[in-house]
Amino acid sequence: MNPTRRNFIKSVTAASALIATGSVAKPFNIIRDLKKISPNDKIRFATIGMGIQGNQDTKAALRSTPMAEFVAAADLYDGRLTHVKEAYGKDIFTTRDYREILERKDIDAVLIVTPDHWHDHITKAAFQAGKHVYCEKPMVQHIDEGASVIEAWKKSGKTMQVGSQRVSSASFREAKRLFLAGEIGDINFVESNYDRFNSLGAWNYSIPGDASLTTLDWDTFLGDAPKVPFDAKRFFRWRNYKDYGTGVAGDLFVHLITGVHFVTNSLGPERIYSSGELSYWNDGRDVPDMMVSILDYPKTDLHAKFQMVLRVNFANAGAINNNTRIVGTEGQIDFTDDNLILTKKKLAKAPGYGGYDSFGTFSASEQKDFEKKYDVQYPPDTRKADPVKEVRFEAPKEDDPHAQHFRDFFENVSKGTLGTVEDPVFAFRAAAPVLACNKSYFEKKVVTWDPVAMKIKKG
Ligand SMILES: NC(=O)c1ccc[n+]([C@@H]2O[C@H](COP(=O)([O-])OP(=O)(O)OC[C@H]3O[C@@H](n4cnc5c(N)ncnc54)[C@H](O)[C@@H]3O)[C@@H](O)[C@H]2O)c1
Repeated sequence: MNPTRRNFIKSVTAASALIATGSVAKPFNIIRDLKKISPNDKIRFATIGMGIQGNQDTKAALRSTPMAEFVAAADLYDGRLTHVKEAYGKDIFTTRDYREILERKDIDAVLIVTPDHWHDHITKAAFQAGKHVYCEKPMVQHIDEGASVIEAWKKSGKTMQVGSQRVSSASFREAKRLFLAGEIGDINFVESNYDRFNSLGAWNYSIPGDASLTTLDWDTFLGDAPKVPFDAKRFFRWRNYKDYGTGVAGDLFVHLITGVHFVTNSLGPERIYSSGELSYWNDGRDVPDMMVSILDYPKTDLHAKFQMVLRVNFANAGAINNNTRIVGTEGQIDFTDDNLILTKKKLAKAPGYGGYDSFGTFSASEQKDFEKKYDVQYPPDTRKADPVKEVRFEAPKEDDPHAQHFRDFFENVSKGTLGTVEDPVFAFRAAAPVLACNKSYFEKKVVTWDPVAMKIKKG
């Protein structure tokens, strides 16, 4: 990387973070008429969807700040509402109907932790009811739902955070710092994967024995999905069906791409192609368990052109090493949630000759001539490469990305600001390309995307 570019990158570091989240363009970054919550006040929140992640999110929210107070929960399965009272206290208000939560004036914020097909509906209803929103990833189930969520958010003036919490880890922050400082030169390739090899990891979660049309609200679960007869597998293992979930791309690629956008300040790819198959978990699911997608990123003012390859393989019985590797012209950053290795490697100016090279095939006189010219062109100081350098980073033991993600949300709520690390514009710029990975897989075609306008390109 040339020094001018390096300085440019350094000088735009702060501004670029804002550009990537769309914050620079937000005239509404500070909402003056929003009720400010003083540090001594509580932010009363409710969780809608008290399944596996609903419990994880509620606990992380409670760990994040003493301001957060858990007061109510909605879920469609009675057993989970009973669990709420058992785990968090009998005074927590519980209901099957999330609208009863939105109606309550004493609730400031909601955590939306339902299956993906409910995200957009509840988010928009929550803004309409004047709530702040923490919504799980992916922000929407379908690309065409993104614009209306963003619009509802802007209109509401409320804070929103989307839940790919890894971007709030110390390791991801360090990756971003190193990348923006120009440590790996110009980016040209990213590789990131999320393989698994176990039944629970492949989404076959336990089904309670009492699951029935009496103990759960099947019709509401279906929502805008096609009407089908009650099936406990669809309710408790909804990720396996594209009517409710978003496949491996929406479930897991979204974490990977969100991390890469966070580190690189990229707005997104312009060309997306996927290949995959249902290779192992033939249990009635209609989504692949193995997918590889290639995403081409255009050059922007903030980074060079690069290609990203994402992979999920739920049948990887081999070595699993779920990391993200960002490769540039002067090294790579290889990182996970809690550690990072920066490797710096710079080529010598002189290309060298001999060994497996055509030099040895030249005539003796040509070889002599070649060496003479080489010595003039490449003096000794151009022949040595910088030694390869490796720098390791371990996240501090107390690093808690999930709680930190919530802290960021609640701090913005309390200040009346919208500058969360994963606001809806940033979140949609991550969700849409991974949903396009599904589109490419199911329609067997290359999808072209406009990362600035956030629209599928025609043709
Ligand atoms: N950020 C992360 O790392 C992470 C991890 C896991 C899951 N998630 C996300 O969290 C969400 C939930 O996943 P999960 O694993 O907890 O699923 P889950 O099936 O365990 O829980 C979902 C719950 O939502 C309830 N529900 C469904 N529709 C509802 C409605 N209309 N109103 C109220 N409750 C409703 C169901 O009764 C169920 O209990 C998904 O969007 C998923 O992608 C995020």
